[in-house]
Amino acid sequence: MKRHNQSSVVEFILLGFSNFPELQEQLFGVFLVIYLVTLMGNAIIIVIISLGQSLHIPMYLFLLNLSVVDVSISAVIIPEMLVVLSTEKMSISFVSCFAQMYFLLLFGGTECFLLGAMAYDRFAAICLPLSYPVIMNKGVFMKLVMFSWVSGIMVATVQTSWVFSFPFCGPNEINHLFCETPPVLELVCADTFLFEIYAFTGTILIVMVPFLLILLSYIWILFAILKMPSTTGRQKAFSTCASHLTSVTLFYGTANMTYLQPKSGYSPDTKKLMSLAYTLLTPLLNPLIYSLRNSVMKRAMMKLWRRKVDLPTF
Ligand SMILES: *[C@@H]1O[C@H](CO)[C@@H](O)[C@H](O)[C@H]1NC(C)=O
Repeated sequence: MKRHNQSSVVEFILLGFSNFPELQEQLFGVFLVIYLVTLMGNAIIIVIISLGQSLHIPMYLFLLNLSVVDVSISAVIIPEMLVVLSTEKMSISFVSCFAQMYFLLLFGGTECFLLGAMAYDRFAAICLPLSYPVIMNKGVFMKLVMFSWVSGIMVATVQTSWVFSFPFCGPNEINHLFCETPPVLELVCADTFLFEIYAFTGTILIVMVPFLLILLSYIWILFAILKMPSTTGRQKAFSTCASHLTSVTLFYGTANMTYLQPKSGYSPDTKKLMSLAYTLLTPLLNPLIYSLRNSVMKRAMMKLWRRKVDLPTF
């Protein structure tokens, strides 16, 4: 085998869905709609919570942070994906690829911890209502939010600089929709064993541990729900729980399958589909699942709407 030197690769080519040329236009339309709905849904939440003084309590401030993270993930991934879909083969510079991987890991890692912190918050509010004000006071809340963001930044910094410190000697075609660790790692022409051990350990700490804690909180919450006296209240709480669990499982499940073994044997198309779950579906569904079903949020929205409608009368 001819060994190229490192400088032979100066940019990457993203193949996107080029093996399904007949689907490109439909996918472009679908992704564009998903992008616009994601931006709108999350923007509504950011505005309502920022303006609603009564919503400045941990539960809603977590949701505010989550919406910021979700908008950011979409903005890092979808516009670039739309370009890939409208081009035969898109070239992407090292710097852009680095930036995309970095910000996806930053916001994705932050989301992993934020969802965990939110489940803990709900667990404390529902299962330990009397000590909740002490358990989730302002200081604890700020620490959890800070921890989520700082961990996201650390994960992104370590992982992205490690991946890009490897030599790339060609080929330079990434069979994926955007730059993320597993498909880029395929192009490395060096021993990545140590990195794979790190990825395995890191994914357990960042993805598996928060996920297990979330499952545990929800098991406790389910027990609390079963003890509720009213049947309708029980049904409502149950459906809320079920929708949270579905979205959380989709997010952590696909992220886990992708990152636990970055050089796993899944086909490129399977990897593309799984990546759509945590980059497109989660940011799209989170506003619907966590906020727009919530009656307090709905009331705040109505209040804001009425105030806005009243404005021209003075
Ligand atoms: C997350 O929430 C905290 C606490 O309300 C807030 O200070 C911070 O600005 C939020 N971060 C983002 C990025 O929205």
